[in-house]
Amino acid sequence: MGSGSSRSNSADKPQNREGIVSDVDEDEFFSRHPSKSGATTPSKSPSYYENRHGRRGVSPPPLSIRSVGASISGLTTRENSRPNSAELKLKNMRQKWATETSKRIHVVVRVRPLNFREIKENAKDIVYMDEINNECTILMPKPSKMIQQNGGSSHKSITFSYDRCYNANATTSQLYNEIPYSLVQGVLEGYNATILAYGQTGSGKSFTMQEDPEHIGIIPRAIVHIFDGKEADEDKDTVYFVHVSYVEIYNEEIRDLLGDNPTRKLDIKGNNGAIQDLTMHHVQTVGHCAELLRKGIANRVTSATTMNAHSSRSHAIFTVWLKIQTRDPSGSTQQTKAKLNLVDLAGSERHGKTGISTNSGHAFKESKSINLSLSTLGKVIQALSVENPGHVPYRESKLTRLFQDSLGGNARTMMIACLSPSDSNYEETVSTLKYAHNTKFINNKPVVNIDKDPKDALIRDLQYEIRALRNRLDH
Ligand SMILES: Nc1ncnc2c1ncn2[C@@H]1O[C@H](COP(=O)(O)OP(=O)(O)OP(=O)(O)O)[C@@H](O)[C@H]1O
Ligand SMILES: [Mg+2]
Repeated sequence: MGSGSSRSNSADKPQNREGIVSDVDEDEFFSRHPSKSGATTPSKSPSYYENRHGRRGVSPPPLSIRSVGASISGLTTRENSRPNSAELKLKNMRQKWATETSKRIHVVVRVRPLNFREIKENAKDIVYMDEINNECTILMPKPSKMIQQNGGSSHKSITFSYDRCYNANATTSQLYNEIPYSLVQGVLEGYNATILAYGQTGSGKSFTMQEDPEHIGIIPRAIVHIFDGKEADEDKDTVYFVHVSYVEIYNEEIRDLLGDNPTRKLDIKGNNGAIQDLTMHHVQTVGHCAELLRKGIANRVTSATTMNAHSSRSHAIFTVWLKIQTRDPSGSTQQTKAKLNLVDLAGSERHGKTGISTNSGHAFKESKSINLSLSTLGKVIQALSVENPGHVPYRESKLTRLFQDSLGGNARTMMIACLSPSDSNYEETVSTLKYAHNTKFINNKPVVNIDKDPKDALIRDLQYEIRALRNRLDH
């Protein structure tokens, strides 16, 4: 493991895709942990409700005009006009994320604390985050006696590097203020962006993206950020239009979580991932946006599994569509358009571990289609992460068709890989680390999406021609 202070550039170093395997002293490994355990705080007596499938889930987060309105002051994304040294450093890092590395998909990893079940089962916390060098190290289970007899070390670890690494004490506010901040700021400048939470079931994707009574995730923070930007920039010549949509992919069917009938199946039209008949809601306040988010979360399919009491059974995509119309002093107008996708994927899972029976039709079908779209996403990532990508199997799943732009196309994209720290999830965690590691080799082609009004351009050309003709007559 490195010990220098080259913060955040380790993701750019050439790397072995399988990670760097090293010998490790187990006692030393555990002594480095800032907190070896720390149970996940259980939410206070969750109230249960029946979702539209008649299955019990946790009540949707109390995200409302009032609750979001009340948190705005604490959430404000405006920069301090006289920043201190830490704020200055962050500002420089944001600049780097927004420029130098903006073409490569950004990848961060976040580990949650051990939960009560894992502590009860005496699970060991085997994930170590080096937040200075942005390296994540996982302790391998003890190798077989044979390896030890042949002189192999009794303990090994694997290390991967990323754009940022967050340990179990890191807050979502800290995470948001770094790379997601730069991406959302880019949306205000006309770049498309996608923020995607990936990981095993129960690893903290919905926790990171959505909101629960004690915790505000990335989606509500991004909403506040967009409205902060709108408020600061709007004047008589600049008008912002914000629309939102919210869909889920459940059993390979696309459904509109904000439509009149959230179980109706929608189709993708054309090659750019546009969804036919999707409802778009014009939103003018954070509160209205929050209300729609809450409605969508309540319509999403969740259910209890052995691994997670409130497991998401669908991939959910909350999209903010931004249009900025500006008029310059000469009177010509231009329109900047950008799209922000905020994605909470369903978790990869092994049936034996989630308690889902391989005989039970309904839950097993759900689980199979979750794994199918995640493995297609993996294939797309694998195909794109090589130097000269050949055929990319976007069309093999709805998820990858919708994200064609975000993976190798016109968008700035970030993946948040969520991890369980427990040794009982070693295999899933290593698989997530490799998946995430491959993703950071993907290059996108983000551009500012500006439409100049064609009428204005024609008028400008004609005015120029008249001036040129007048000049000729005058001389
Ligand atoms: N960083 C964290 N700090 C504290 N608690 C966390 C953290 N991450 C997750 N948790 C808790 O762990 C549990 C599982 O998290 P969550 O529902 O977000 O998992 P998930 O990855 O969305 O799983 P699934 O794929 O099954 O939907 C929740 O009770 C959540 O509050
Ligand atoms: Mg979830």
